[in-house]
Amino acid sequence: MREIDDLDVEGKTVLLRADLNTPLDGTRITDDGRIRASLPTITKLLGRGARILVIAHLGRPSGAGYAERAAGGPSLRPVAERLSELLGQEVPLAADVAGESAAAVAAGLANGSIGMVENIRFEPAETSKDDAERAGLARRLTALAGPDGRYVADGFGALHRKHASVYDLPGLLPHAAGDLVLDEVAVLRRLTDSPERPYVVVLGGAKPSDKLAVIDNLLGSADRLIIGGGMSYTFLKAQGHEVGKSLLEEEMIPRVAEVLAEADRRGVEVVLPVDLVAATHYGPDAEHETIPVTAFPADRESLDMGPATRALFAEKLADAKTVFWNGPVGVFEFPAFSEGTRAVAEAIGRVAGLTVVGGGDSAAAVRILGIPEDSFTHISTGGGASLEYLEGRRLPGLVALDDGTAA
Ligand code: 3PG
Ligand code: MG
Repeated sequence: MREIDDLDVEGKTVLLRADLNTPLDGTRITDDGRIRASLPTITKLLGRGARILVIAHLGRPSGAGYAERAAGGPSLRPVAERLSELLGQEVPLAADVAGESAAAVAAGLANGSIGMVENIRFEPAETSKDDAERAGLARRLTALAGPDGRYVADGFGALHRKHASVYDLPGLLPHAAGDLVLDEVAVLRRLTDSPERPYVVVLGGAKPSDKLAVIDNLLGSADRLIIGGGMSYTFLKAQGHEVGKSLLEEEMIPRVAEVLAEADRRGVEVVLPVDLVAATHYGPDAEHETIPVTAFPADRESLDMGPATRALFAEKLADAKTVFWNGPVGVFEFPAFSEGTRAVAEAIGRVAGLTVVGGGDSAAAVRILGIPEDSFTHISTGGGASLEYLEGRRLPGLVALDDGTAA
């Protein structure tokens, strides 16, 4: 993969695909981790006299056409403002993605300056399954950069998406991978190429369906799988436990049972919760009590891991030499139900070996719970992207960078 050091960018308009998909509360950014993670590449390119035009998505705008999506938002405005604060320089945001306003912002860039286009997903073609539609948008974006345009891929968290700005655009311009992408891929390689053992993987998050493919693959590499949070209730149910009104993917029970049997055959230890925090309903102030998994009431909903589970998970992490963690194990956004996720984060923080927090929600949890970021080797900016990498899939955004197009 070509690096930005090998790309001639001075005086050139660089279309920089970043992942600035930050969690928002209204228009307030609750975790700016992805914006901060994008700064090194941006600063390097600015220092080399590039004219950067950032392309990024935010959320999943809905609506049939451009106008409907642009009206519904979310706009990248708060992100552009935060980026500008962090960089200490202005970041003009176009009012559109590839229209007149974007062209004007691009034309106004001087060497060492930066602007952004609006949420790329306002353009329905960005996520289209139709190759020709995506290619059309990619060409319009290329036009913004002029005949000397460049492309830099730094949006690690979106590399698993076969989208116009991730997959199609790099093929049209001399391109390189940004430093964030290179760092992330280097860490994931360490996890896949002979990890030091025991290699312990902690998986949480809402749904087993999102994680079964990665579990299939991890059964060939990990020594121990700790499963908690929303997805663990389907595992408990597959073992015959009552889970009440807790999150459940009923239709996944047979697959989950197969995975448990396969883990057994391969000698991979699977660690499941032994007690749960049973709440009356989903809410920050819900009444709750700790209940063993063998006696869960039908009218309750689990929102967190109980104290015995927290201790068990910590014990199963204590001897690890390599850890990968993806997905909170409770509703950490509600302080009353954040103890499980905190216990996992702290136990991983005590591990002396390679510890990787895999993206999105878990990374935000670490920061929101105030766990020191330097207690981990690496906090990835990509949840889905790192999972798909560990599944052994070729990420479309990496495939597009490997095609050898010369500058
Ligand atoms: C993410 O938040 O996981 C990435 O930014 C990709 O977003 P997406 O899941 O909406 O494609
Ligand atoms: Mg996601």
